[in-house]
Amino acid sequence: TASITVVAIDGPSASGKGSVAQRVAKHLGYGYLDSGALYRIVAHAAQQQNVSWQDAEALAALARGLHIEFHGEDVLVNGQDVGDAIRSEAMGKGASEVAVHGPLRAALLDVQHDFRQAPGLVADGRDMATVVFPDAAIKIFLTAAVEIRAERRYKQLLAKGAAADLSTILEDLKARDARDQQRAAAPLVQAEDAVLLDTSAIDLEQSVAQAIEIVANIKTIAL
Ligand code: CDP
Ligand code: CDP
Repeated sequence: TASITVVAIDGPSASGKGSVAQRVAKHLGYGYLDSGALYRIVAHAAQQQNVSWQDAEALAALARGLHIEFHGEDVLVNGQDVGDAIRSEAMGKGASEVAVHGPLRAALLDVQHDFRQAPGLVADGRDMATVVFPDAAIKIFLTAAVEIRAERRYKQLLAKGAAADLSTILEDLKARDARDQQRAAAPLVQAEDAVLLDTSAIDLEQSVAQAIEIVANIKTIAL
């Protein structure tokens, strides 16, 4: 795998990780892994199969039995398209609840490693640089102030035509941040060797440009 370049992008909810990671992957001609989708898929499958979000071992067993395929926006789980179902706020919360369990995280490691294919991979999540791809050549910690992230999520929901309340979103984000940062298993933390990219004061286009510049700089030094 030495010739496969991994770009690991971690950060809190609604910081812009997914949008930035997808565009960087496209620019580089690399594959893309949305690791958060895996936890959303498990939360959704558990709900369908009456498995508790608190049952670590049952969730791990369930995850091992899932056949997961990504085709653009479509997400097939054992042949069923769950692309829309897993994008709900409820499944975002469910994902953060199932994600606290170490056995489930371990069960999802192989699935994530399988995304590493030539010429490279851009992976976004919470523990890409720290746990899943600790030897990634490029590590970015992408963040923004929580109030800014709340506004971004708010605008995203309004654009979808969904009902949204800014103060509720802000409180939900703070709760999600706390759960992601304080859990024992693979907590959200900036890797020691990650470059910090704070997007509070820049738009999506500028965020993508800066991420591409970080990748180019590290490649120039390392290769
Ligand atoms: O994946 P994550 O939850 O971190 O965030 P996202 O869904 O990629 O981005 C949340 C929203 O913020 C999207 O609508 C992005 O277009 C927007 N965004 C922004 O307004 N400014 C940025 N610098 C980055 C993202
Ligand atoms: O879009 P947003 O950032 O809100 O969520 P996501 O990236 O789809 O992740 C949903 C939840 O899954 C997060 O709140 C985390 O608790 C969990 N997750 C994780 O534990 N590890 C990852 N690598 C990715 C997501």
